[in-house]
Amino acid sequence: MGKRSQFSSNFGVIAAAVGSAVGLGNIWKFPYVAGQNGGGAFLLVYLLCVLVMGLPALITEMSIGRMAQTSPVSAFKKLTGNNHWTFIGVMGVLSSFIVMSFYFIVAGWTLEYICQSISTLSFSGMTSDELTEIFDEFSTNSFRPYIWLVVFIAVTGLVIYMGVQKGIEKGSKVMMPLLFAIMLYLMLHAFFTNDVSEGYEFYLKADFSKITPTVLIQALGQAFFSLSIALGIIITYGSYVKEGNVVTTCLQISILDTLVAFMAGLVIFPAVFSYGIEPSAGPELAFVAMPAVFSQMGGGIVFAILFFLLLALAALTSTISLYEALVAMLNDTFGIKRGLANLIVGLAVLTVGIIVCNSINGHSIFLICGKTCFDWCDLITTNYLLPIGGLALMIFFGWVYDQKKVHDALMEFGMKEWFYKIYIVLVRFIIPIIIILVMLNQFGIFENLKN
Ligand code: PFF
Repeated sequence: MGKRSQFSSNFGVIAAAVGSAVGLGNIWKFPYVAGQNGGGAFLLVYLLCVLVMGLPALITEMSIGRMAQTSPVSAFKKLTGNNHWTFIGVMGVLSSFIVMSFYFIVAGWTLEYICQSISTLSFSGMTSDELTEIFDEFSTNSFRPYIWLVVFIAVTGLVIYMGVQKGIEKGSKVMMPLLFAIMLYLMLHAFFTNDVSEGYEFYLKADFSKITPTVLIQALGQAFFSLSIALGIIITYGSYVKEGNVVTTCLQISILDTLVAFMAGLVIFPAVFSYGIEPSAGPELAFVAMPAVFSQMGGGIVFAILFFLLLALAALTSTISLYEALVAMLNDTFGIKRGLANLIVGLAVLTVGIIVCNSINGHSIFLICGKTCFDWCDLITTNYLLPIGGLALMIFFGWVYDQKKVHDALMEFGMKEWFYKIYIVLVRFIIPIIIILVMLNQFGIFENLKN
């Protein structure tokens, strides 16, 4: 095994981790999940989930990576000297793979929408019904989504081939601030030119009666998904880190990631209500609402192209992290050369991507219990694998691994004693208990007890 790559600076790690965190999950997934789960009620639960569970989980993963200095599958063996906890790493790798099988498809949609922005002159004069029709026609087309899927996988593979530093670090440094700026502009534009009251009311006013166990699991899964937690990604990045304060780094990542998702809601929900789009429309929401915004905006074409381009780039920094984790795993664990590992991952993702794409196309052989493979991949990862992976991480770090070593490592990584006291209670008790209750509820245990 060669010497592990290092990021040239702490900023490089933050940029790359933010690059992994900020992506389609913030701008595409967050608004539609919020729309399906009561708007303001979801937002409130989501923010609490990030603070109470997301941040500590992020710190845990980053610390494990930094302590082990190797990729997720090998990390647990290196720390404990046995194979009992390797399953967390294996589960993370499996989850990354399932996430990739639908994430690359949506990433491909962003490329289509760059082209559509040009060919339709930023969707000028189109109604929301026409925009929905365009989306449906495209996403079920038997040619174009596949082409974009191939393009996106190829570009990701190429960046990985070029290496950790050159590929990930340089790109993230420029792209993330630019995406942030354009979201801010769109948010202010909506505020000053539209009637935002209905959208804001839906998104910002929490109706407590809408907080249900489903909202909780969706918010928890989404928080983990958005922060790229429980997939081993952050362990991989942590393994590239040698210095810096782990708490500050993770806090910065969480704040930036949450801010982008929050801003996406502030752009999308006013548009949803102004243009008569259903907030619970599902995965198509951003791809209908955003074009609706651009269709009415002065200089819309410039903004449309820029927005979808930056969204594609944000998706790219996330696909890079998913892809890199698998390549690093094949390299560290099985000793497969990075070039070959890159090819294997690319072909494997392409194969499942094609199957998932076919299921959206409505080919009934790819429907399972009436749901598409796309929906299943999303559901299995968000509602099951990520929470269970998070739970396993907490149990490992809070109970199984030598607590003196945990304490010493966290102090060495810059955590303050008072913060440690809160952190360890969350990791040992609060987070596992919440996840266990949510999972039991998912499996219908409480329903059965009531009957
Ligand atoms: N966090 C990314 C997003 O919000 O778009 C998606 C993602 C990337 C999830 C990497 C998980 C992951 F490991």
